[in-house]
Amino acid sequence: AIIRRKDYEPFAWRVPEIRLDFDLGLETTRVEATLKVTPNPDAEAAPEIRLDGDGLVLESVAVDGEQRTDWRREGEALIVPLSPGEHVLNVATRIAPSANTQLMGLYASNGMLCTQCEAEGFRRITFFPDRPDVLSVYTVRMEADAGAFPVLLSNGNPVEQGTLEDGRHFAEWHDPWPKPSYLFALVAGDLVARTDRFTTCGGREVELGVWVRSEDLPRTSHAMESLKRSMKWDEETFGREYDLDRFNIVAVGDFNMGAMENKGLNIFNTKYVLADEETATDDDFDAVEGVIGHEYFHNWSGNRVTCRDWFQLSLKEGFTVLRDQLFSQDLHGAAIKRIGDVRVLRAVQFPEDSGPFAHPIRPDSYKEISNFYTATVYNKGAEVIRMMRELAGEAAFRKASDLYFERHDGEAATCEDFVRSMEDGAGLDLAQFRRWYEQAGTPKVTVEQAYAGDAITLTLRQSVPATPGQPDKQPVPIPLKVALFDRESGAHSGETLIVLDKAEQSFTFDGHTSAPILSINRGFTAPVVIEREISRDDLVFLAGNDDDSFARHEAMQELLLAYLLGDENEDAREAIGTAAEAILADDALDHEMRAELLSLPPFAYLAERSEVYDPGAMVVRREGLKTWLGERFADRFASLHDTLEAPAREAGPVGKQARRMRSLALGYVAAADPAKGAPRALAQYREAQGMTERQGALAVLAGLDGPEREEALADFYTRFADNALVIDKWFTLQATALREDVLGEIEQLAQHPSFTMSNPNRVRALYAVMAGNPLAFHDASGAGYRMIADLILELNLKNPQLAARFVPSLGRYRRVEPGRAALMRAELERIAEAGELSRDVSEQVSASLG
Ligand code: ARG
Ligand code: ZN
Repeated sequence: AIIRRKDYEPFAWRVPEIRLDFDLGLETTRVEATLKVTPNPDAEAAPEIRLDGDGLVLESVAVDGEQRTDWRREGEALIVPLSPGEHVLNVATRIAPSANTQLMGLYASNGMLCTQCEAEGFRRITFFPDRPDVLSVYTVRMEADAGAFPVLLSNGNPVEQGTLEDGRHFAEWHDPWPKPSYLFALVAGDLVARTDRFTTCGGREVELGVWVRSEDLPRTSHAMESLKRSMKWDEETFGREYDLDRFNIVAVGDFNMGAMENKGLNIFNTKYVLADEETATDDDFDAVEGVIGHEYFHNWSGNRVTCRDWFQLSLKEGFTVLRDQLFSQDLHGAAIKRIGDVRVLRAVQFPEDSGPFAHPIRPDSYKEISNFYTATVYNKGAEVIRMMRELAGEAAFRKASDLYFERHDGEAATCEDFVRSMEDGAGLDLAQFRRWYEQAGTPKVTVEQAYAGDAITLTLRQSVPATPGQPDKQPVPIPLKVALFDRESGAHSGETLIVLDKAEQSFTFDGHTSAPILSINRGFTAPVVIEREISRDDLVFLAGNDDDSFARHEAMQELLLAYLLGDENEDAREAIGTAAEAILADDALDHEMRAELLSLPPFAYLAERSEVYDPGAMVVRREGLKTWLGERFADRFASLHDTLEAPAREAGPVGKQARRMRSLALGYVAAADPAKGAPRALAQYREAQGMTERQGALAVLAGLDGPEREEALADFYTRFADNALVIDKWFTLQATALREDVLGEIEQLAQHPSFTMSNPNRVRALYAVMAGNPLAFHDASGAGYRMIADLILELNLKNPQLAARFVPSLGRYRRVEPGRAALMRAELERIAEAGELSRDVSEQVSASLG
């Protein structure tokens, strides 16, 4: 069935209170739910209540203390007749956590029990109106074997705990904040905590806990510090204070996504909690901090103000992604973070927006909501709110955000509510801006320049491409920060924010005695593709001199794209060399920014910027450029690799910057001359003082041949054999390598004793990485496509969410050269005909086939 946004109806009943009694066990768990229900005055009265369910064994139903038999089932749902007025509903069910391979609802992971309810997992725990606009106060009592499950956690504050007969014990928790069912959580297991305290701005003493298996405790301090920084930042930047006496984070080894913001009890993928220098890279540290921030910030943008229905998902996710991006920018500098965020947007979201599954940040319909936890809803959603912030200015944006939280606290709100708060709080008119919520597709802006007298006129044209179901698009307001550089002085006289809100519009700037150089979409103020006519020399100038780091990086990327996507052209490559020369010589740059400027665009973005591409040819071109740059600056890269050795061991930003540049330099050395690169890389590997250096070296070695590669890979495996997250890296490093026979090697890795289909991190470490490796996935034989299709079929019913994530890689066949495209499509057809498909996979596959 297709669910449509326009069909929204409020639920006939309210459930102001719920009590859950769990008798927990790995094999069988019994759940008794006690619901207080009252008619919803805002909805049409109904003679019955419809409760969602999924895979539950129903034991009994009672209303107001009397057993009932007049209920009925409609599919998985349970329908109980109810007379008007207030009632107490009792429903007892049984579930089997160990048999739960979908990792939705209550499931087992490494002997512990945990939950994932967003979006529709609560119905796998008990019968309930499992929709985000039904808010209840939860009381949860858990009873379990005290030996196997010494720790019992749920949302809110602890109320009571005690021992029972037969080695059992119990704990009761109460969450005073009404919440939708998707925010319910419980954890039972043999866990230990790193604890700490945080005093809020209002003087509330909060007890913090990061719960892990005992062997992981030494790797929790970064998570704890990140949590405290998040709490403080949200107070200072958004005026948001925490609202319970407890805040717990639990790390779980088997998790479909990154993490989950359950009220007062965030549940995390171990990948985003555990970090120490030995086992985590600088990027891993930043990812932990970013995700801890993200989930914490949801306490307001998501929990206190939640979503009316799942079409509003971007209301909480877009806003919270923006909040976590700003948090990281504030902590570590805006430039690098912005470049990285835009890189992800372009490599992941742009392809979504131009592909068969393109959808607006607020979709109009879905079959399976899990399919809409996308880069579009999250990352483009964040960009859309960022544009409002740009239009409003920081101070007015804060006022509008305060107004939003004040108006909608305790409510299940809509994107429209958010936009209206932005209008009222910041004094904006966002009538036309709302199209950003309605239209899919990445707008394209072309720029023409005409210089006459002392004035430069920019003529901008925008078009939003047609997407499935949306053939005709309207212009959107596109805020573009611009600066005009004077050729003589090399400086500009200030930035201007222009807003292109028509299909075509001209902007004139006078007072320029010679034709200036245009720097546009500075800071990436709008998530659009800019196509401009600009000379190579002007790009070289901007790549060397633009004072907006993003724009400077962008100019370099444009030079790289022009060569990598254009006709083979020595002049274009020469321009890259000239720009690189200046970047290498610019002493004002820190090494992290230098490394960013010298990094080649990701393959996914190159593919995205091509109409139709030949993956093999594209790899040859990209790797060829890497070799050329490596040869041209061979001495420079070798000496950077030498001289940065000591700085790379320093603490703080200096060390991080040095490590980044040093590993990049190593990559260039190896690209130019593997015989020189291999021993250098092995030396870096052996002497590495932490995972950043070690992984940086191994990433280079993994792409080479010879004894150095074998030694390092073998050492890495044995050294970290008991650390799942590091073994994930071992799989990933090999699956990323651009080697002739990487597909054969991946086949071997899939047979490795450490490989398992039951752990999502492990599956992603091998196969998601494989699907992004052009030499493996796009192997001309079609074996890569077959491998991914087989994987999808194997996971289809076992873990539909995970399975469905792999479909879009095959779904991009329209952009690939015809020979391969036919093979990709054939695999999609094979999946389509394979019999019982999960809703997740079926929706993705039919969208892909079009
Ligand atoms: N709300 C979570 C986050 O963004 C993601 C949960 C997604 N879960 C899912 N089953 N799709 O932080
Ligand atoms: Zn989120």
